[in-house]
Amino acid sequence: MFLSLLKFFNLLFMKNIITLRLLPLMGIVLSLMMASSCKHDPELPLNYLTLNDSICFDSQVLPVIESYCAISGCHDGSGEKRRLTSYLEIFKEVNPGSPNKSKLYQVMTASKISGNMMPPNHELDNSLITPIELWILEGAKNTNCSIRPCDSVNVTFTGTIMPIITTYCLGCHNGTAANTTLSLTTYNQVVAAQQNKFLLDHLLNRNGKDIMPKSGSLSICNIAQIKKWINDGMPQ
Ligand code: HEC
Repeated sequence: MFLSLLKFFNLLFMKNIITLRLLPLMGIVLSLMMASSCKHDPELPLNYLTLNDSICFDSQVLPVIESYCAISGCHDGSGEKRRLTSYLEIFKEVNPGSPNKSKLYQVMTASKISGNMMPPNHELDNSLITPIELWILEGAKNTNCSIRPCDSVNVTFTGTIMPIITTYCLGCHNGTAANTTLSLTTYNQVVAAQQNKFLLDHLLNRNGKDIMPKSGSLSICNIAQIKKWINDGMPQ
């Protein structure tokens, strides 16, 4: 809002509607607005949508909540009353356009001290919170990006593989979860899981291995990227 007002003033100025004599008054109005805008949610950068496209609910929001919140005994319907396994259920915890007024965002950013932090066992990585914040700012839409082009050629561990693991697996495989001791938080642990624990077989639900992540298969694109990395010899 602040930026659009600035543009508006600029326009008036260019058209000589506002003369120099009014400048001090404008200064007061603008500084008052700046002071009050601090309390509000951040604005999207003007060029955000054109530069990055919008956040994908299906690949940047839902899997994080499935992996970190909708785990057994928590928000999967088996324990806590609040179920968070679908768009509509998650949408109920959101105030579109306003992360700070959204329960979902509030608990993800609350401190351990206040006692309301979610997930309770560890802080979410900022690389997972930021897309959720932007998604709420963009109106919390049910966006699906499965049709976006998939780069399964230029695959690196830090740029491709670890972000997938962080989004889809670390809610459980972080070394602190009650239901599994398998940790996938480092390069060595991920490599060892492929070598000794049939990681790819779990992703493909084959050779008698349970489907991972538990909520359902990764996208065809993510599986192709992980296969490429394994075929390349799992470079660091
Ligand atoms: C909602 C929780 C959850 C999520 C999310 C999850 N897992 Fe699991 N995973 C488990 C549980 C529970 C087991 C079974 C207990 C065990 O064997 O450690 C398991 C087992 C495994 C095993 C076999 C471990 C073994 O010792 O044989 C592998 C490999 C694995 N998961 C990989 C993954 C990968 C890769 C992802 C992400 C793409 C993922 N998991 C996501 C809960 C989860």
